[in-house]
Amino acid sequence: MKKQSLAMIVIALLCILVLSFGNSFKSESEPVHTEIATTNEYIVVGFSQLGAESDWRSANTESMKSTFTVENGYKLILEDGQQKQANQITAIRTFIQQEVDYIVLAPVTETGWDTVLQEAKDAGIPVIIVDRMVDVSDEDLFTCWVGSDFELEGKKAAEWLNRYAKAKGIASEELHIVNIQGTIGSSAQIGRTKGLAETARTYGWDLMAEVAGDFTQAKGKEVMESLLRRYDNINVVYCENDNAACGAIEAIEAAGKRVGSDIDKGEIMVISFDGVKKEAMNYVLEDKISFIAECNPLHGPRVKAIIELLKDGQIPEKFSYVDEQIFSANKTVKEIIVDGMAYTVTLPEIVEE
Ligand code: AHR
Repeated sequence: MKKQSLAMIVIALLCILVLSFGNSFKSESEPVHTEIATTNEYIVVGFSQLGAESDWRSANTESMKSTFTVENGYKLILEDGQQKQANQITAIRTFIQQEVDYIVLAPVTETGWDTVLQEAKDAGIPVIIVDRMVDVSDEDLFTCWVGSDFELEGKKAAEWLNRYAKAKGIASEELHIVNIQGTIGSSAQIGRTKGLAETARTYGWDLMAEVAGDFTQAKGKEVMESLLRRYDNINVVYCENDNAACGAIEAIEAAGKRVGSDIDKGEIMVISFDGVKKEAMNYVLEDKISFIAECNPLHGPRVKAIIELLKDGQIPEKFSYVDEQIFSANKTVKEIIVDGMAYTVTLPEIVEE
């Protein structure tokens, strides 16, 4: 009896000791525990966005923010790379330390990702690449990719120009083209530049210059000003996004020249990509931009669908290409055929903000 009560006293003392130790541990480490408790309730997504250079990019960031919300069961950690790959690599390393559930990467350029993607893979964190591609030695370094076929976009624009010139009786050698390129080394630039360059070679167009415009309005304007000083016979400006196109139009009009599809009457034709910037879509309706190949930025729901598949233990498609339209207000060309597929020319819909 005596032994039993002694044992009970010892057990009671041990319980008090354990409880009080537990409490003091909890209060000292409260922020850490609170954080873990909070994030455990949500799927944590680390998103390395490459920057904020264009209206397209803002729409893309917004799509991710409005999809990966607390209400939808997610916690989004968004890092802006400010156009620097080094910043994006640091962001990915931080996500790994934070033990996020998924990493989403919108890469600024294609190369240079092998090491950091290997680190994410070693940490067992799935990486979803969005928008532009990565060029890595082993495609197992990332889970999957979703985005646009940039070369196809370029081919659509070039084929539309081909059909337009033929319909108007403009000879190949009469097309004097300059290309205001996007961020050099990005998939969007590589694909769109290739789409134009190859078509120009096929038809014998005069592709006079390819100059980097960084996908921004300011650079588009600056580059166009210098191109106009260098060449007096430009009649087609191929701009690799809408922001650069709007900048180029500013420069052309400031130089006292007219933009429009009537190159046979001295106008300078502007061709562009995206179809996101409201000003650019209005320019299509006014025929200040002759043609836009759509590049769709609304990847948030697409990435969410991929994460839901992965959560269910399913394997998503390695590469998912988004279907995209073509916009023009000019009635000369109604349809184009690229790589055996027909695309109908559509009038843009202006979405009021
Ligand atoms: O990678 C997509 C491209 O990046 C868009 O065309 C452009 O506007 C953006 O900045």
